[in-house]
Amino acid sequence: MSVFAAADPAAPDAPRSLNAEVERLADEQAVLRRRLVTDADAVRRQVVRDLHDGTQQRLVQAIITLKLAVRALRANDANAERLVCDALEQAQNANLELRELAHGILPQVLIRGGLRAGVEAVVDRLDLPVQVHVRSERFATEIEASAYFIVAEALTNVVKHANASRAEVTAAAEGDALVVQIRDDGIGGADVESDGLMGLRDRSTALGGRLTVKSPPGEGTVVTAVLPARAPGPGPAARRGSESRA
Ligand SMILES: Nc1ncnc2c1ncn2[C@@H]1O[C@H](COP(=O)(O)OP(=O)(O)OP(=O)(O)O)[C@@H](O)[C@H]1O
Ligand SMILES: [Mg+2]
Repeated sequence: MSVFAAADPAAPDAPRSLNAEVERLADEQAVLRRRLVTDADAVRRQVVRDLHDGTQQRLVQAIITLKLAVRALRANDANAERLVCDALEQAQNANLELRELAHGILPQVLIRGGLRAGVEAVVDRLDLPVQVHVRSERFATEIEASAYFIVAEALTNVVKHANASRAEVTAAAEGDALVVQIRDDGIGGADVESDGLMGLRDRSTALGGRLTVKSPPGEGTVVTAVLPARAPGPGPAARRGSESRA
Protein backbone atom coordinates (compact mmCIF):
# COMPACT_ATOMS: atom_id res chain seq x y z
CA MET A 1 0.00 0.00 0.00
CA SER A 2 1.23 3.46 -0.85
CA VAL A 3 2.09 5.73 2.06
CA PHE A 4 -0.16 8.28 0.45
CA ALA A 5 -3.24 6.04 0.60
CA ALA A 6 -3.93 7.05 4.21
CA ALA A 7 -3.90 10.76 3.41
CA ASP A 8 -6.91 12.77 4.51
CA PRO A 9 -9.34 12.92 1.54
CA ALA A 10 -10.41 16.32 2.87
CA ALA A 11 -6.96 17.56 1.91
CA PRO A 12 -6.71 16.53 -1.77
CA ASP A 13 -3.27 17.98 -2.28
CA ALA A 14 -1.81 16.26 0.81
CA PRO A 15 0.07 13.51 -1.15
CA ARG A 16 1.57 16.16 -3.40
CA SER A 17 2.78 18.27 -0.47
CA LEU A 18 4.13 15.15 1.28
CA ASN A 19 6.04 14.31 -1.88
CA ALA A 20 7.36 17.83 -2.08
CA GLU A 21 8.42 17.66 1.56
CA VAL A 22 10.27 14.36 0.97
CA GLU A 23 12.03 15.91 -2.03
CA ARG A 24 12.89 19.04 -0.07
CA LEU A 25 14.37 16.98 2.77
CA ALA A 26 16.40 14.89 0.29
CA ASP A 27 17.75 18.09 -1.30
CA GLU A 28 18.59 19.51 2.09
CA GLN A 29 20.38 16.32 3.05
CA ALA A 30 22.43 16.41 -0.16
CA VAL A 31 23.40 20.04 0.50
CA LEU A 32 24.39 19.20 4.10
CA ARG A 33 26.46 16.22 2.94
CA ARG A 34 28.26 18.40 0.36
CA ARG A 35 28.91 21.09 2.99
CA LEU A 36 30.32 18.51 5.41
CA VAL A 37 32.73 17.26 2.75
CA THR A 38 33.78 20.81 1.79
CA ASP A 39 34.24 21.86 5.41
CA ALA A 40 36.33 18.74 6.12
CA ASP A 41 38.45 19.46 3.01
CA ALA A 42 38.97 23.06 4.08
CA VAL A 43 40.07 22.02 7.58
CA ARG A 44 42.41 19.37 6.15
CA ARG A 45 44.00 21.90 3.77
CA GLN A 46 44.41 24.32 6.66
CA VAL A 47 46.21 21.68 8.76
CA VAL A 48 48.51 20.84 5.83
CA ARG A 49 49.36 24.53 5.39
CA ASP A 50 49.98 25.05 9.12
CA LEU A 51 52.33 22.07 9.14
CA HIS A 52 54.18 23.33 6.08
CA ASP A 53 54.44 26.97 7.12
CA GLY A 54 55.04 26.24 10.82
CA THR A 55 56.69 23.05 11.99
CA GLN A 56 58.37 22.22 8.69
CA GLN A 57 60.17 25.56 8.86
CA ARG A 58 61.60 24.72 12.29
CA LEU A 59 62.88 21.43 10.87
CA VAL A 60 64.39 23.21 7.84
CA GLN A 61 66.37 25.39 10.26
CA ALA A 62 67.57 22.34 12.20
CA ILE A 63 68.71 20.71 8.92
CA ILE A 64 70.55 23.85 7.77
CA THR A 65 72.30 24.09 11.16
CA LEU A 66 73.24 20.39 11.09
CA LYS A 67 74.76 20.83 7.62
CA LEU A 68 76.86 23.68 9.01
CA ALA A 69 77.84 21.45 11.95
CA VAL A 70 78.98 18.65 9.61
CA ARG A 71 81.07 21.14 7.65
CA ALA A 72 82.57 22.46 10.91
CA LEU A 73 83.31 18.92 12.16
CA ARG A 74 85.10 18.04 8.94
CA ALA A 75 87.21 21.19 9.24
CA ASN A 76 87.94 20.51 12.93
CA ASP A 77 86.23 23.85 13.63
CA ALA A 78 85.56 24.54 17.31
CA ASN A 79 82.06 25.83 16.44
CA ALA A 80 80.85 22.32 15.64
CA GLU A 81 79.58 21.54 19.13
CA ARG A 82 77.67 24.84 19.41
CA LEU A 83 76.04 24.20 16.00
CA VAL A 84 74.93 20.71 17.07
CA CYS A 85 73.45 22.19 20.28
CA ASP A 86 71.62 24.85 18.21
CA ALA A 87 70.24 22.17 15.88
CA LEU A 88 69.09 20.13 18.88
CA GLU A 89 67.25 23.14 20.27
CA GLN A 90 65.63 23.82 16.86
CA ALA A 91 64.52 20.19 16.58
CA GLN A 92 63.08 20.36 20.11
CA ASN A 93 61.20 23.55 19.19
CA ALA A 94 59.85 21.82 16.09
CA ASN A 95 58.66 18.93 18.24
CA LEU A 96 56.97 21.32 20.66
CA GLU A 97 55.25 23.21 17.85
CA LEU A 98 54.15 19.96 16.21
CA ARG A 99 52.61 18.84 19.49
CA GLU A 100 50.78 22.17 19.77
CA LEU A 101 49.54 21.97 16.18
CA ALA A 102 48.44 18.36 16.67
CA HIS A 103 46.26 19.58 19.52
CA GLY A 104 44.84 22.31 17.30
CA ILE A 105 46.60 25.02 19.24
CA LEU A 106 48.58 27.92 17.80
CA PRO A 107 52.12 28.61 19.04
CA GLN A 108 51.90 29.98 22.60
CA VAL A 109 53.94 33.06 21.77
CA LEU A 110 51.35 34.07 19.16
CA ILE A 111 48.38 33.44 21.43
CA ARG A 112 49.88 35.41 24.31
CA GLY A 113 51.78 38.18 22.53
CA GLY A 114 50.02 38.50 19.17
CA LEU A 115 51.57 39.02 15.76
CA ARG A 116 54.49 41.16 16.90
CA ALA A 117 55.68 38.63 19.47
CA GLY A 118 55.15 35.78 16.98
CA VAL A 119 57.18 37.53 14.27
CA GLU A 120 59.95 38.38 16.75
CA ALA A 121 60.12 34.72 17.82
CA VAL A 122 60.47 33.62 14.17
CA VAL A 123 63.15 36.25 13.49
CA ASP A 124 65.11 35.33 16.67
CA ARG A 125 65.60 31.83 15.31
CA LEU A 126 67.10 33.01 12.01
CA ASP A 127 70.72 33.57 11.23
CA LEU A 128 69.92 36.66 9.15
CA PRO A 129 69.50 40.35 10.02
CA VAL A 130 65.79 41.11 9.82
CA GLN A 131 64.22 44.47 10.61
CA VAL A 132 60.78 44.12 12.18
CA HIS A 133 58.18 46.89 11.97
CA VAL A 134 55.09 45.36 13.55
CA ARG A 135 52.96 47.21 16.07
CA SER A 136 51.72 45.37 19.12
CA GLU A 137 48.01 45.78 18.28
CA ARG A 138 45.91 42.59 18.30
CA PHE A 139 43.78 41.13 15.50
CA ALA A 140 41.35 38.21 15.31
CA THR A 141 43.01 34.84 16.06
CA GLU A 142 42.86 33.47 12.52
CA ILE A 143 44.12 36.74 11.02
CA GLU A 144 47.11 36.79 13.38
CA ALA A 145 47.71 33.08 12.72
CA SER A 146 47.68 33.52 8.93
CA ALA A 147 49.92 36.59 9.08
CA TYR A 148 52.32 34.68 11.35
CA PHE A 149 52.51 31.62 9.08
CA ILE A 150 52.95 33.82 5.98
CA VAL A 151 55.90 35.59 7.65
CA ALA A 152 57.37 32.25 8.83
CA GLU A 153 57.26 30.65 5.36
CA ALA A 154 58.39 33.78 3.50
CA LEU A 155 61.39 34.26 5.84
CA THR A 156 62.29 30.58 5.60
CA ASN A 157 62.26 31.00 1.83
CA VAL A 158 64.64 33.94 2.21
CA VAL A 159 67.05 31.82 4.27
CA LYS A 160 66.72 28.81 1.94
CA HIS A 161 66.73 30.42 -1.48
CA ALA A 162 67.44 34.15 -1.58
CA ASN A 163 71.13 34.44 -0.69
CA ALA A 164 70.11 37.74 0.88
CA SER A 165 72.14 39.95 3.22
CA ARG A 166 69.05 41.27 4.99
CA ALA A 167 65.27 41.13 5.16
CA GLU A 168 62.48 43.30 6.51
CA VAL A 169 59.01 42.49 7.86
CA THR A 170 56.29 45.12 8.15
CA ALA A 171 52.70 44.67 9.29
CA ALA A 172 50.24 47.47 9.80
CA ALA A 173 46.50 48.03 9.74
CA GLU A 174 45.44 50.09 6.72
CA GLY A 175 41.72 50.86 6.81
CA ASP A 176 39.89 47.52 7.02
CA ALA A 177 42.99 45.57 6.04
CA LEU A 178 46.09 44.19 7.72
CA VAL A 179 48.95 44.58 5.26
CA VAL A 180 51.89 42.24 5.84
CA GLN A 181 55.05 42.56 3.78
CA ILE A 182 58.27 40.53 3.74
CA ARG A 183 61.09 41.82 1.57
CA ASP A 184 64.67 40.74 0.98
CA ASP A 185 67.63 41.98 -1.04
CA GLY A 186 68.48 38.57 -2.50
CA ILE A 187 68.57 37.00 -5.94
CA GLY A 188 64.83 37.20 -6.73
CA GLY A 189 63.32 34.92 -9.36
CA ALA A 190 60.89 33.11 -7.02
CA ASP A 191 58.56 30.61 -8.65
CA VAL A 192 55.12 31.89 -7.65
CA GLU A 193 53.35 28.75 -8.93
CA SER A 194 55.29 26.52 -6.54
CA ASP A 195 53.56 24.80 -3.59
CA GLY A 196 54.87 26.94 -0.73
CA LEU A 197 53.98 30.29 -2.30
CA MET A 198 50.68 28.92 -3.68
CA GLY A 199 49.87 27.79 -0.13
CA LEU A 200 50.39 31.34 1.11
CA ARG A 201 48.10 32.62 -1.61
CA ASP A 202 45.42 30.04 -0.72
CA ARG A 203 45.78 30.95 2.95
CA SER A 204 45.14 34.61 2.15
CA THR A 205 42.22 34.05 -0.22
CA ALA A 206 40.58 31.63 2.23
CA LEU A 207 40.26 34.62 4.58
CA GLY A 208 38.99 36.93 1.85
CA GLY A 209 42.40 38.56 1.36
CA ARG A 210 45.04 38.39 -1.37
CA LEU A 211 48.76 37.80 -1.74
CA THR A 212 51.21 39.05 -4.34
CA VAL A 213 54.84 38.15 -4.97
CA LYS A 214 57.25 40.45 -6.82
CA SER A 215 60.54 38.75 -7.47
CA PRO A 216 62.36 40.04 -10.54
CA PRO A 217 65.68 38.20 -11.03
CA GLY A 218 68.53 40.00 -9.29
CA GLU A 219 66.27 42.52 -7.54
CA GLY A 220 65.14 40.79 -4.36
CA THR A 221 61.68 39.53 -3.44
CA VAL A 222 58.66 41.25 -1.94
CA VAL A 223 55.75 39.16 -0.62
CA THR A 224 52.69 41.23 0.26
CA ALA A 225 49.57 39.88 1.94
CA VAL A 226 46.47 42.01 2.33
CA LEU A 227 44.22 40.35 4.90
CA PRO A 228 40.91 41.55 6.26
CA ALA A 229 41.66 43.14 9.65
CA ARG A 230 38.48 41.62 11.03
CA ALA A 231 37.68 37.91 11.04
CA PRO A 232 35.28 36.64 8.34
CA GLY A 233 31.96 34.97 9.21
CA PRO A 234 31.91 31.53 10.83
CA GLY A 235 33.36 29.49 7.95
CA PRO A 236 35.32 26.32 8.72
CA ALA A 237 38.60 28.18 9.27
CA ALA A 238 36.97 30.73 11.55
CA ARG A 239 35.18 28.05 13.57
CA ARG A 240 38.37 26.09 13.97
CA GLY A 241 40.05 29.28 15.13
CA SER A 242 37.54 30.20 17.77
CA GLU A 243 36.62 26.76 19.06
CA SER A 244 39.79 24.79 19.26
CA ARG A 245 42.72 27.07 18.69
CA ALA A 246 42.24 30.14 20.84
N1 LIG B 1 62.77 35.00 -1.26
C1 LIG B 1 63.13 34.25 -2.33
N2 LIG B 1 64.22 34.57 -3.05
C2 LIG B 1 64.60 33.84 -4.12
N3 LIG B 1 63.94 32.74 -4.55
C3 LIG B 1 62.86 32.37 -3.85
C4 LIG B 1 62.38 33.09 -2.72
N4 LIG B 1 61.26 32.48 -2.27
C5 LIG B 1 61.06 31.45 -3.07
N5 LIG B 1 62.01 31.36 -4.04
C6 LIG B 1 62.09 30.39 -5.15
O1 LIG B 1 60.78 30.04 -5.50
C7 LIG B 1 60.57 28.63 -5.33
C8 LIG B 1 59.22 28.40 -4.77
O2 LIG B 1 59.16 28.69 -3.37
P1 LIG B 1 58.26 27.80 -2.47
O3 LIG B 1 58.25 28.32 -1.09
O4 LIG B 1 56.95 27.68 -3.16
O5 LIG B 1 58.95 26.35 -2.53
P2 LIG B 1 60.13 25.74 -1.67
O6 LIG B 1 60.54 26.67 -0.58
O7 LIG B 1 61.20 25.29 -2.65
O8 LIG B 1 59.47 24.45 -1.06
P3 LIG B 1 58.49 24.36 0.20
O9 LIG B 1 58.09 25.75 0.59
O10 LIG B 1 57.32 23.59 -0.32
O11 LIG B 1 59.26 23.68 1.26
C9 LIG B 1 61.73 28.15 -4.46
O12 LIG B 1 62.06 26.82 -4.75
C10 LIG B 1 62.85 29.12 -4.80
O13 LIG B 1 63.53 28.67 -5.95
MG1 LIG C 1 59.10 27.54 0.72
